[in-house]
Amino acid sequence: MNSTHAPPALWSEDALWAASTIDFPILFLDKSRTVHAANPAARALAQRIAPGGGPEALVALVSDEGWATALRQGDWQGVVQVDAAPALSLEIHFGHARDSAHCVMVVVDISERGERKRQYEELQRTVDRLASTQEQLLQSEKMASIGQLAAGVAHEINNPIGYVGSNLATLQDYATALLTLMEKYHEALFSEDPAGQREELLQARQRLDIDYIAGDLPNLLKESREGIERVTKIVQDLKDFSRVGRDQKMQPADLLQGLDSTLNIVWNDLKYKVRLEKHYTSLPPVECLASEINQVFLNLLLNAGQAIEQRGTIALASGCDEREVWISITDSGCGIPPEAMPHLFDPFFTTKPIGRGTGLGLAISYGIVAKHHGRIEVTSKVGQGSTFRVVLPIHQPRTGATAA
Ligand SMILES: Nc1ncnc2c1ncn2[C@@H]1O[C@H](COP(=O)(O)OP(=O)(O)O)[C@@H](O)[C@H]1O
Ligand SMILES: [Mg+2]
Repeated sequence: MNSTHAPPALWSEDALWAASTIDFPILFLDKSRTVHAANPAARALAQRIAPGGGPEALVALVSDEGWATALRQGDWQGVVQVDAAPALSLEIHFGHARDSAHCVMVVVDISERGERKRQYEELQRTVDRLASTQEQLLQSEKMASIGQLAAGVAHEINNPIGYVGSNLATLQDYATALLTLMEKYHEALFSEDPAGQREELLQARQRLDIDYIAGDLPNLLKESREGIERVTKIVQDLKDFSRVGRDQKMQPADLLQGLDSTLNIVWNDLKYKVRLEKHYTSLPPVECLASEINQVFLNLLLNAGQAIEQRGTIALASGCDEREVWISITDSGCGIPPEAMPHLFDPFFTTKPIGRGTGLGLAISYGIVAKHHGRIEVTSKVGQGSTFRVVLPIHQPRTGATAA
């Protein structure tokens, strides 16, 4: 407790000590408005109201009428407004004896009470609701694009499974032929005259096409193994998309690998009409939620593919400096008219027929990239094509709340 003057005996050491432990401002005054003591909270508030000044600044907030009332009645209470605090409740209490020359002044900052508190809580609830809606939208858009992809992916998986199956049937025939020949060798070996069987064995070998089998067998096995690997890879890539990213932590990730995996699952839709170009510059690991960034790539690749009517090119490129990396997806598609540009990232803005477009892809991508403190840049020319460039910081800022 800092005292301006030696406190009169009227205020006990205990009272002063108690005041110093309370976190709202308390001042001890006399009738002539002289401050005898002020607790740390009072000094701090006085500093906020009048920087450089003392606790007298708080006393000055009491109007002359207020003082007159306090002197007359023993108590007074009022609310004042100052720049630093929109609502301060001031109370003055003289001692029990009306003629007491000393009083206590209590100041309570009520700015955050009442209406403001209610508004704040309302806002907080809205923010929470929005966050969960955004999460649901993200999940449903994810599901929608997975739905779009499902047919393509089914085909992509069916194809290798089909030829692995037919290879297995052929391999079974080959195995039967080889076992048949082995049986004949075995019989010859234990016959009376093994050497006399030679001609017959050579004919059987020819009949069973063993030379052809010997040549074809390694190919069949290699092709089947590749088919299984392809299916495993697609399943692996798909797994990334079934995760929801609320409690995940941002971790350094290889963005180009993510882009390639994502490309892998949309490629089936694109391969008949799109020529692909890659101009990759290697990138450092980027701190991010990889599955969400892949979702951005997925949306941009789907849009690029949908922008190409007949045949066209999609070019993927990357680059970085010491702070940021970028990945761009350029298509030679229809392009975006200038009047649509301001609306691209609006939720539900779509120029596509119902069932094809939800208008959520770019809105959600924007949200994901903003959450990563990055940005999406768009350049486009009608009839020539568009470039969407995703720019992300390599490291996330250490302090401050994450942008919504
Ligand atoms: N690469 C692109 N080329 C041309 N137009 C695009 C491209 N990407 C996005 N757009 C435009 O932006 C709109 C919004 O895209 P998006 O948010 O992904 O929703 P959706 O694809 O479901 O329509 C599209 O309907 C389209 O008009
Ligand atoms: Mg889209």
